[in-house]
Amino acid sequence: MKKVMVAIVLILALAFLGCAQQEQPKATPTPAATQTPAATPTPTPTPKKFDLVTEGTLTVGSDIAYPPFEYTDEKTGKYAGFDIDLMTEVAKRLGLQVKFVNTAWDGIIPGLMAKKYDVICSAMTITEERAKQVDFSNSYFEAKQVILTSAKDTSIKGVKDLDGKTVAVQQGTTGDFAAQKLVEKGINLKIIRFEGTPEALLAIQKGDADAAIIDNFVAYLAAKKDPETYRVVEDPEFPPEYYGIAVHKDNKGLLNAINEVLEEMKKDGTYDKIYEKWFGKG
Ligand code: ARG
Repeated sequence: MKKVMVAIVLILALAFLGCAQQEQPKATPTPAATQTPAATPTPTPTPKKFDLVTEGTLTVGSDIAYPPFEYTDEKTGKYAGFDIDLMTEVAKRLGLQVKFVNTAWDGIIPGLMAKKYDVICSAMTITEERAKQVDFSNSYFEAKQVILTSAKDTSIKGVKDLDGKTVAVQQGTTGDFAAQKLVEKGINLKIIRFEGTPEALLAIQKGDADAAIIDNFVAYLAAKKDPETYRVVEDPEFPPEYYGIAVHKDNKGLLNAINEVLEEMKKDGTYDKIYEKWFGKG
């Protein structure tokens, strides 16, 4: 009889334990459940995990004069380009509207730090120096510098031939830094700096500059559109660069959300679709 009792007690105890274990996850209310009384489904599934300059909108700072990454489509008057499509999709996946703020390159990082926009997407190369001021997403694009020169000028075949030449750059870009490096290496070139890349390209056309140092895909497009004017010269001297989306250092939540979405877009083929639209099959 005693044995039976013990057995029953044991069985009950085990059963209780089993139940307790099963019920445990449900029994502990998650903080989210208690803090969100509205258990009713809301249309936007994304809970607020980050700060935004304007609620419900991803505000993107960009120097929109950099085709094919960001430019104004002359026919439609609308912003277009690889970065524009990329950020439009990123915002959509975050459950946000997108708004682009056309910003001069010089001052684009201070603008982010002053919270004029939530992110910078502007074909911006991730550099150590910039990363001291802003956070960068995982890279979304690989690029490098090239020399863009006049189609008529056949004398420039590589960086060494820039000796004695005038080189146009957009001020504060990696093209500017690359030109400075060449000077430090003893290539005696004269740098002329412009606020925007279109002005630097114009300087070649007008004969004010012999060449420009500029991101490769921007140069490829210029030479493709206007082969009578421009020619691209590549040099292994220029290392690969990686574009990133810059986010305010206080906004890790947004940074993580962007990285997640970028990863998703790479996995499900959306990134490749956007890439192919602008650059063809890689
Ligand atoms: N990739 C270069 C840099 O980060 C040039 C970017 C210029 N972008 C622009 N939209 N103008 O310095």
